[in-house]
Amino acid sequence: MNFVVLTIFPEMFNPFWEHGIIRRAIDRNKIRVSAIDIRDFAEGKHRVTDDRPYGGGCGMVMKPEPLGAAIREATQKAPLSKKILLTPQGRRFDSSVAHELSSSEGLIFICGRYEGVDERICLDFIDDEISIGDYVLTGGELAAMVIIDAVTRLIPGILGGRESAEKDSFSGGILEYAQYTRPRSFEGHDVPEILLSGDHKKIENWRLETSLIRTFLKRPDLFENRALSKQEIEILKKWCVDIERIIHNQSLYGPGALSGGQ
Ligand code: ADE
Repeated sequence: MNFVVLTIFPEMFNPFWEHGIIRRAIDRNKIRVSAIDIRDFAEGKHRVTDDRPYGGGCGMVMKPEPLGAAIREATQKAPLSKKILLTPQGRRFDSSVAHELSSSEGLIFICGRYEGVDERICLDFIDDEISIGDYVLTGGELAAMVIIDAVTRLIPGILGGRESAEKDSFSGGILEYAQYTRPRSFEGHDVPEILLSGDHKKIENWRLETSLIRTFLKRPDLFENRALSKQEIEILKKWCVDIERIIHNQSLYGPGALSGGQ
């Protein structure tokens, strides 16, 4: 996978390329990366990349000529790459968009700054517009890093078996199960006994149940568009029985009776 970032702050990417999984992916030739300075395509002594908006208003707009030239050159070098403008107006980035992008030949990211980019760039030079959330960043650079990071870890052969992307939060449409490592006891909280039992079947069931519980408590919206498996339905039914039993027992004694009438 070839990642090209067009930005007026290419140096922002140096530390990003040099650490962790991204670094490993570069070293193993799984990804190629470059950050290209849009100013290199700007005319004049001051290599200006922005200008005042026609029609007035505050802020500056990124000029179309340097951006257009930068995108053209990047496309010539990587003709099969998808050209993505990073903007809060784009479609929302999530796990399924990350999977979609991971099968591209290459990605060219156009990082806007100031109040945005000249509309004519959006019309003729861009294949897709992506936002990483409903908030406005000072530029697209951090958004490009977020996307490159999330896409890179999905490329086959990048994560080891232990870090597998298949077991991630969201990969099965629900959140990942609770994780523990040594020590067995930390500040009064013990690792659940079942994880020490060595019974792989039980551990797998327990993990699925904790995934469902967390999703139910933290992100119930994820259940809306996801079909439940038979096993998951059984787990949910078991909760219903447990919850009904609690309610039944409480109501036998009357409201508040078990807490001394409070
Ligand atoms: N540029 C500014 N804000 C952004 C956002 N939320 N997502 C992507 N690019 C951006």
